[in-house]
Amino acid sequence: MNREIPFFLTKPQYLTIKDELDAAVQRVLDTSFFVLGQELTAFEAAWADYLGVARAVGVGSGTEAIHLALRVLDIGPGDEVLTVSHTAVATTVAISSTGATPVFVDIDPHTYTMDCTDLERRITPRSKAIVPVHLYGHPAEMDRVLPLAEHHGLVVVEDAAQAHGAAYRGRRCGTLGAAGAFSFYPTKNLGAYGDGGAVITNDTALAERLVLLRNYGWSERYYSAIKGYNSRLDELQAAVLGAKLPYLDSWNARRRRLAALYTATLAGDAGESTIRVPTEAAWAAHTYHLYVVRVPERDRVQAGLRERGIATQVHYPVPVHLQEAYRDLGYVSGSLPHTEQAAAEILSLPLYPELTDDDVQYVAAALRETVAGL
Ligand SMILES: Cc1ncc(COP(=O)(O)O)c(C=O)c1O
Repeated sequence: MNREIPFFLTKPQYLTIKDELDAAVQRVLDTSFFVLGQELTAFEAAWADYLGVARAVGVGSGTEAIHLALRVLDIGPGDEVLTVSHTAVATTVAISSTGATPVFVDIDPHTYTMDCTDLERRITPRSKAIVPVHLYGHPAEMDRVLPLAEHHGLVVVEDAAQAHGAAYRGRRCGTLGAAGAFSFYPTKNLGAYGDGGAVITNDTALAERLVLLRNYGWSERYYSAIKGYNSRLDELQAAVLGAKLPYLDSWNARRRRLAALYTATLAGDAGESTIRVPTEAAWAAHTYHLYVVRVPERDRVQAGLRERGIATQVHYPVPVHLQEAYRDLGYVSGSLPHTEQAAAEILSLPLYPELTDDDVQYVAAALRETVAGL
């Protein structure tokens, strides 16, 4: 008998803390104050406290968090920003929105994060910033990124959109560069009920400029001190996030347990040579926003699992440098070999805290059988 395993569901998590979430939303409705109010202030303080940084500034999305962090650091036209092509296209959207040119760096094929040897090769006199992406919840190798940035006078904005609570050598992702950018898109480890994001930083002057930038550049109502944007984390989202935050560590711990169960079930004997399970570097505390394996004939495997009722996804099927929209950047097939090979082989399995151990074992067994039957 086939069992339906969706790739992700938001509702089971809502039901586990329904009373708290209902109360948070009701509180906002009762005050009927919806933008830039006390819920945002409280959540910003709680998020900064959780990460151990001076400030968190709520903005409209993760894309906007990267964009505004780069803008506040004076990145713009004529500048080059180094990042990876193996990421959500949003990372690149944010860079191009500043007017700067994205420069793509290949990935390490094991951690799926920026390959720092390639990073060094691609630095030019026009390079101004690095945006490492802590993809899938696995930190990028910051001990190599940061000295390179310092040596070449580049600023670092971490894309921590998939890395809430993940850590690099015990330090939280997002806290290591000049600024860190988070997304609270509903599927994230800490997800709102709509769009949302935050920039975090230890630089309070930077945070103050961000507060202006996200709100039309206003220093006070109707007085624009700088040219700004409209990008704010609204009160309903802030209230939801505030209610969820106390559970983030236990949800992440549950993700790690389920990931370990996947790995234990997939990595044995016959599976070992054909299914490559995720690695966790010695310096990493992975939070498994996504559990990504590599398989031969990925599309056939994905179709086989679908027939058994198991939904999987590919993050991401076409690397950004090969997307139609970014053709003008001049990359071709073969420009980033590790990135392109990963895109052809990766498969994200269902993983969220409300899945049961049994669900995970069922998916893992189905994957092994599907691969064995190729
Ligand atoms: C790695 C990465 N960067 C940036 C973003 C952008 O976040 P948002 O969707 O909130 O704009 C996302 C999420 O989609 C992401 O996964």
